Amino acid sequence: MAKSFTLNTGAQMPSVGLGTWQAKPGVVGEAVAFAIKAGYRHIDCARIYGNEKEIGLSLKKLFDDGVVKREDLFITSKLWCDSHDPEDVAKEIDSTLKDLQLDYVDLYLIHWPFRLKKGSSLSSENVIQSDIPNTWSAMEKLYDSGKARAVGVSNFSTKKLQDLLSFARIPPAVNQVECHPVWQQTKLRSFCQSNGVHLSAYSPLGSPGTRWIEGNVLANSVITEVAQKLGKTAAQVALRWGIQAGNSVLPKSTTESRILENFDVFDWSIPADLLGKFSSIPQTRLIRADFFVSPQGLYKSVEEIWDGEI
Ligand code: A2P
Repeated sequence: MAKSFTLNTGAQMPSVGLGTWQAKPGVVGEAVAFAIKAGYRHIDCARIYGNEKEIGLSLKKLFDDGVVKREDLFITSKLWCDSHDPEDVAKEIDSTLKDLQLDYVDLYLIHWPFRLKKGSSLSSENVIQSDIPNTWSAMEKLYDSGKARAVGVSNFSTKKLQDLLSFARIPPAVNQVECHPVWQQTKLRSFCQSNGVHLSAYSPLGSPGTRWIEGNVLANSVITEVAQKLGKTAAQVALRWGIQAGNSVLPKSTTESRILENFDVFDWSIPADLLGKFSSIPQTRLIRADFFVSPQGLYKSVEEIWDGEI
């Protein structure tokens, strides 16, 4: 069930994609090759992850060896915050396509609705006023050109998505956001569903290895109890919950056994009585984006960043 979701462009987006955030150069290429050989058809990339070149080399070898065809893969990448100017949008996708050794991506996202000074690092003092209408019109041109077969956003609150929909000539196909049983995005998901925007879940396992993230999603008692009842792992239950909620999920792993485990989520489901238990889980946003916030900066609070959705 739900091996893929249909986007508002008509394209099919595979429901499980391999995440590559924090997948280090030196291992990411092998992880991508292993995942594709195991059946993954969706890879989630971004320029800022610093590993697209190695992913491109891996993809090229898979194509050359006849393991998979380009048209059978779904590849996403994202525009970084220091490149929101329209002329930079065009340059950035070209750099990504060169590194990935592709003619097009299946989906190109504005990584964050926030903007950094050109060439500056991710720090609150470098944040400048964004101009999403201008950036979005450059994204629409990428869609027109065919370099991006779908365009969308990431980390947009309900309010920011609503604003974008009010002026977009081409509506975003996807909003990729943090989503897992401990941050279920109920309000945003229902807004997305009623507006034809697909919600794609990053950190679907709660990014357990990330030092600055507080909270352990996979140790949540509802998840572990359901996992025990179904004879599955906590990670599989978290992912299956996401798919049943209608989200694509993007678990990152560079460990072969986990890459396999995270893809073994199609021939079983969480029954309704157990699914009901997820609504009792207290909700916490784990990726709060404090790095965009400072008392002297453009954004003075985390509430402001997320338009109150925290
Ligand atoms: P690793 O890459 O070393 O296997 P998220 O996708 O939510 O960001 O989570 C990614 C983190 O979760 C990584 O640290 C990854 O480690 C770990 N991880 C991935 N799959 C599993 C799994 N099935 N069980 C436990 N941890 C996992």
